[in-house]
Amino acid sequence: MTKIHLAPKTTKSLPQAILFSSETPDFKKLSFSKDEAELVAAQRKAKRPLIQLYRNGTYLFLHFPEPKKAKFQDIEAARVAGNVLLGELKSLNIGDILISSDAKDASMLLAYAEGMALGNYQFVKYKKEKPTNTLKNIYLEHSSLKQTDINELQVITDANIIARDLVNEPVSYLTAEKLSAEIKNLAKESGFKIEVFNKLKIKTLKMGGLLGVNQGSVDPPTFNILEWNPKNAKNKKPVVLVGKGVTYDTGGLTLKPTPGSMDSMKCDMAGAAAVTGILYAVAKLKLPVHVVGLIPATDNRPGGNALAPGDILTMYDGTTVEVLNSDAEGRLILGDALSYAKKYKPQLVMDFATLTGAAARAIGQYGTVFMGTADDATKKQLVDSGNTTYERLVEFPMWDEYGDMLKSDIADLKNVSAGPVGGAITAGKFLERFTDYPWLHFDIAGPAFLSGSDSYRGKNATGVGIRLIFDFLKKQIAK
Ligand code: BES
Ligand code: ZN
Ligand code: ZN
Repeated sequence: MTKIHLAPKTTKSLPQAILFSSETPDFKKLSFSKDEAELVAAQRKAKRPLIQLYRNGTYLFLHFPEPKKAKFQDIEAARVAGNVLLGELKSLNIGDILISSDAKDASMLLAYAEGMALGNYQFVKYKKEKPTNTLKNIYLEHSSLKQTDINELQVITDANIIARDLVNEPVSYLTAEKLSAEIKNLAKESGFKIEVFNKLKIKTLKMGGLLGVNQGSVDPPTFNILEWNPKNAKNKKPVVLVGKGVTYDTGGLTLKPTPGSMDSMKCDMAGAAAVTGILYAVAKLKLPVHVVGLIPATDNRPGGNALAPGDILTMYDGTTVEVLNSDAEGRLILGDALSYAKKYKPQLVMDFATLTGAAARAIGQYGTVFMGTADDATKKQLVDSGNTTYERLVEFPMWDEYGDMLKSDIADLKNVSAGPVGGAITAGKFLERFTDYPWLHFDIAGPAFLSGSDSYRGKNATGVGIRLIFDFLKKQIAK
């Protein structure tokens, strides 16, 4: 992982990049030679966003991202610029870079570093010949920066990368039990508490949704409880985060059509990875907030005893569900976890799930669909955090009619609606039945796993959700 530092006093020999926030910057401090001044002027005229100079035995990059309308868009442009610079550093085999910015506050510079650190991620575990990115250290220079800002950025980017690693792991490695073992390691490293329920305990608790999805599997399920409860927590009631931990989704007996549609289904535990990453970051940075994470985990397979369409399950809270499509499995395991969350008398519950293709089709990879019963002020704060972190949110309606589509003739509800419309919302309405507290559902099926590279988000797993919720929690505490 890329190491992020405050710039040391002597930085003379380091390659350097300056991020400019103004169209007409003050170059005086750089004391250009005549040749340099001419080159820079010509390239500025040609609107080149990244200018490269070689002086005093090292590189100097001048970076001019195009100004946008809103501040949050400028911040995102700085992240994207960081990833562009990263490409240059790689081609020049540069390992350490000193970055600075002419902006008054350090937010642009931090975003620049964030884009670099996140873009620098690679998943090379299974390569015999490991391609190695060159960048090792980023040094930030800005008068208003403190060591705590640097620590926070380091932990957030680390948490994001830890989540990406978990999502990129195939199910041949990452079974439910392995996921629990990985969470235990991260708990040890960062300081949050972890309790893992095994299959026997899950049976004793009668978590029928989780057991039902697991029926066709040879690997047992787990139910994971993560907790960070510091003495100085500002909230009396906890914030509970629930993550869908389907380690692989074949669809079960309602098998996904092959080929193609199953190829990325190792990503179906991206919600679980996000919750783990948030707990990791909150604990490592000792945030004064009481947070609980609940992760039901299993794969979804068409084995001998697999759920058959038409089966009826009794969920953890006693609700009966007619399962008409075993590929709508996420809501079954989440329903149990959402019911379990009631015992915490939570202030707010947020669930993260790669839940529906419908959400991905509606808005693509560019944002997360969310919906739920929390108050408008909370929703607005989340939308703001979504813009700040550029993990953008769009709210879908939860009108009663969508809930009516889940009426079953013979059980309390069915797990899929008959009609072809509103698939992301009917999934949300299903989950709502298991809540009695302020609740929000985030369907990350679109942004969790990308088929092509998208700037610093990379290709494949993106670790979406962690930066968003960390920003939200931090602002809650500051209130
Ligand atoms: N894990 C999938 C949703 C998904 C799709 C995630 C694409 C990531 C990318 C989920 O379990 C699923 O299969 N949902 C079904 C629901 C349907 C049967 C009502 C879907 O979206 O097709
Ligand atoms: Zn499915
Ligand atoms: Zn799924």
